[in-house]
Amino acid sequence: MTAGEGERKIEKILYPTDGSTTAGRAMHFAVYIAKATRAKIIVLSVGELPFLHGAQSGLESQVSSQIKRVAQDVARKAKREVAGYGIEAQERTEIGDPAGKIVEVAKKEKVDAIVMGTQGTTGLARVIIGSVADRVIREADCPVILVPLKGARTLF
Ligand SMILES: Nc1ncnc2c1ncn2[C@@H]1O[C@H](COP(=O)(O)OP(=O)(O)O)[C@@H](O)[C@H]1O
Ligand SMILES: [Mg+2]
Repeated sequence: MTAGEGERKIEKILYPTDGSTTAGRAMHFAVYIAKATRAKIIVLSVGELPFLHGAQSGLESQVSSQIKRVAQDVARKAKREVAGYGIEAQERTEIGDPAGKIVEVAKKEKVDAIVMGTQGTTGLARVIIGSVADRVIREADCPVILVPLKGARTLF
């Protein structure tokens, strides 16, 4: 099957990353698809705020700005790497629930696919996929490609 006129093409890929090694493997596959389709990649990093029960507001804002900074660093670094492969890339940082934000951005940006890791920084080897990956495949309305740590060549 080839994409004819008016048919859907892969033009935008969402690559959510938490900076983990598995997410790095997913990036290589996202780049591989982007090269083949000439799609652009949106790199997304979501900073998750911890629940600080009864914490003083000073501490809360300190923690949240630190989390924002970490998420921005992760997004910036990944975007630079993607761009280094000659792919048009854009970076985005959100604060909130990672799975919810990934699905929300995918819908808002009307991406054609999401490429992410099976695991992330928690990386429990005994679970097949992590909780963020699990929720994204349940809730996204576009194809989701999950790349396992050992299932992909380092570079495509
Ligand atoms: N905070 C986040 N921001 C962006 N992407 C994320 C975030 N957390 C996880 N991901 C994506 O989801 C994949 C699976 O991670 P996750 O389900 O959280 O597994 P784990 O439970 O091992 O941390 C990661 O490889 C990454 O692509
Ligand atoms: Mg995780």
